Amino acid sequence: MFQLGKSTVFGLDIGFGSVKVVQLKKSGKDISIVGFAREPIAEKSLQKTKILEKNKIQEALKKAVKSAKPHAITTKAVCAALPEHLVFTKVIELPKIKENALAKTIPYEAGEFMPISLEETYLDWQILGDNPDKSKIEVLVVAAPKTLVDDYIDLVKQADLQLFALETKPISAVRAIAKNEKEGLAILDIGAEASGIAIVDQGIIRLTGTVTVGANMVDKALQTNLNLKPEDASKIKYESGLSFKTETKTKEIIQQALAPITDELAHTIKYYQSRIKAEGKIAKIKLCGGGAAIQGIADYFSRQTGIHTEIGNPLVHLSKSSEKILSKTDALPYTTAIGLALRELG
Ligand SMILES: Nc1ncnc2c1ncn2[C@@H]1O[C@H](COP(=O)(O)OP(=O)(O)OP(=O)(O)O)[C@@H](O)[C@H]1O
Ligand SMILES: [Mg+2]
Repeated sequence: MFQLGKSTVFGLDIGFGSVKVVQLKKSGKDISIVGFAREPIAEKSLQKTKILEKNKIQEALKKAVKSAKPHAITTKAVCAALPEHLVFTKVIELPKIKENALAKTIPYEAGEFMPISLEETYLDWQILGDNPDKSKIEVLVVAAPKTLVDDYIDLVKQADLQLFALETKPISAVRAIAKNEKEGLAILDIGAEASGIAIVDQGIIRLTGTVTVGANMVDKALQTNLNLKPEDASKIKYESGLSFKTETKTKEIIQQALAPITDELAHTIKYYQSRIKAEGKIAKIKLCGGGAAIQGIADYFSRQTGIHTEIGNPLVHLSKSSEKILSKTDALPYTTAIGLALRELG
């Protein structure tokens, strides 16, 4: 019989523009795509702090699970990712103590930096390795608002699925496109309505930031400034974007729309280097999310930041033949979902 191979969970990414699902399978060493799908959701379904229209998202999720290509999703277990700006993440340094004593110390320490009370959050932590100072340990502490987590559990349950694991979006993105990077780097996920920034060192996320500007702003700016119909604006964005093919005025409009992202990225890198790791080198910037598919965008960020910028490859851990199902460019909006689907494949 047709063997689907090892595949226990699928990845679910709820964004401001769409719900995305990806299921992968592993046969021997080869990882390939079982199915992927994207269902658009109405602009107001997801709020900055909570899921507003659970029903609409739930419908989109059910639809995506069924319509995934080349095969419908075959498992009910879901790995989902929370937006990082709603989750408090911090690396804290503690004197070396026994692991069971951490359960008492960490909530106390976490209470010091969290803007909401401990009773209102779910707390989790992970000891980070390779600390040069052996008398201390570094612990990554993650605190997620209970209301948000409960919303996700509910949503998944109502779609007749089970929530297997939750993490934050940058963790999924690192797994998908930057797992083996040794040098410090920045990941920039350009979404529909927002963009996420993560500073990663030795594969560990040290700092995250968010800008409420995404690739949809490019459409809006082109429509307003050049008096274009939505379909014509999106044609420019998809086909010529920031490449040499685009005339100067149009390029300037696109650059202006993206400027808040460039500014926040530069600011986050500066903050990292001044407050978290003095002289911490950021060797490169890796782009992902649908906005990373805008023509010429990597060169634009290289020029603006002075840091080498490249487009991440969300298919890097997948077999070569996966590209026949989903091209590297078309996979960019699926970076988070692919990272989630990779989680249980080791
Ligand atoms: N090939 C492409 N060329 C240019 N832009 C693209 C391309 N593919 C997708 N986009 C744009 O990317 C954006 C959607 O990206 P993505 O799917 O990553 O967002 P999202 O995850 O739903 O939203 P958010 O991250 O804001 O929550 C849209 O603005 C879309 O027009
Ligand atoms: Mg997104």
